[in-house]
Amino acid sequence: MLISSKIVNGINGTIKIPGDKSISHRSIIIPSISKGDTQISNLLWSEDVIRTINAFQLMGVSIQVDKDDIIIEGKGLNSLTKSDKKINLGNSGTSARLLTGLLSSQNFDSILVGDKSLSKRPMERITKPLELMGAKFNNNHNKLPLKIYGKKLNNIDYELELPSAQVKTGLILAALNAEGISKIVEKKITRNHTEIMLESFNADIQIKKKDTANHIFINGKKELIPKNISVPSDLSSASFFIVAALINKNSFIKMNNINLNPTRDGILRALNLMQANIQINNKRIINGELIGDLEIKTSELKGCELENDNARLMIDEYPILSIAAAFAKSPSVFKGLGELKVKESNRLELIRHNLHNCGIFCKVNGQDLYIDPTKKINPKENQIKTDNDHRIAMSFAVMGMKLGVELKIIGSKFIKTSFPNFLITLNSVGGNLSE
Ligand code: S3P
Repeated sequence: MLISSKIVNGINGTIKIPGDKSISHRSIIIPSISKGDTQISNLLWSEDVIRTINAFQLMGVSIQVDKDDIIIEGKGLNSLTKSDKKINLGNSGTSARLLTGLLSSQNFDSILVGDKSLSKRPMERITKPLELMGAKFNNNHNKLPLKIYGKKLNNIDYELELPSAQVKTGLILAALNAEGISKIVEKKITRNHTEIMLESFNADIQIKKKDTANHIFINGKKELIPKNISVPSDLSSASFFIVAALINKNSFIKMNNINLNPTRDGILRALNLMQANIQINNKRIINGELIGDLEIKTSELKGCELENDNARLMIDEYPILSIAAAFAKSPSVFKGLGELKVKESNRLELIRHNLHNCGIFCKVNGQDLYIDPTKKINPKENQIKTDNDHRIAMSFAVMGMKLGVELKIIGSKFIKTSFPNFLITLNSVGGNLSE
């Protein structure tokens, strides 16, 4: 259990944010099926990424630690070998969706399992389109445990039903090993780290923009050529510090090398609407990804209204944005958050429940979240329910440092899935967390 208590002197200093989680997963998967060695720096060493590393080690890939970097010896598109054991992906939805795509086109069978939370999350969104390519799964193909019968797959021409980077990536990974050209259409653009990395690995991939849609063409069966990767720091992890600095007086923080990929930067756009004082310096492109250095100062935030379309640009950041909204001077409405119900927990419900417990007026109407910090209600209890969700735990740790009431965050050990050093890092710049 984590205990979060009020801070007096603000959040101050330069903070080193760990590597981006989405890019770290892809930095294991793509080099593992390339032909040659890849050196990766600033990889995120968190439980979720370690699950992906273990999966590829079980399938015969050499992944070695070399000082702060790792080296992956890829042996080509069809070099993976059958795992003797079930592949346990713990809490990691990204590993599960991406590996389902990749492994359905291998010439061996695999079994994917996960923890309690992952075993409840929908898999049909990826297995259904893969079945159109000829993929085969056990009957219960909407949930883990999932048996994947590895097969030769056909190419696909498919329009995504949901704006989901995980589904898109699972299909791209399957298409890399299918004969012919596959076409995947996303009507609404989602995070494009996979496409960026595959382009730099010389994949035969083309992206054509048509109005607001992306048409992605992949010519399968072409070997990938490795390119060393420097993983940028994670904007999702940085967001906890950004909001902590914004809502606590006398704060000023700097964070360098933060990923600012425009398919992922919705949190910065939202905070900008809320009149947050965030300065972005030294924008540059590394490995095809836009990165920059951030400076954040205490700000008087106002509420904002975010439309449905915002959700895919910042789906993981609504829990921490809700904390910012709880200390703004006017109400906020965040629309179209249905996907939050099927993340590591039902995040929409947990945000509502916990804000309400902390004395913040909050209601959910269908898929929309409404937060009004100007209406006072009585705080109920100081226990935060996380259902073992790392982002709910970190968001309410930030809440507790501002609130004036000590918050007891139950199930906080899951923070290690994405940010093992969260407590130490936050305390080093003025936070007040204890275990
Ligand atoms: C991710 C995509 C998002 C996000 C998740 C990571 C990825 O999920 O919530 O944390 O790395 O592709 P969806 O694609 O399901 O929206």
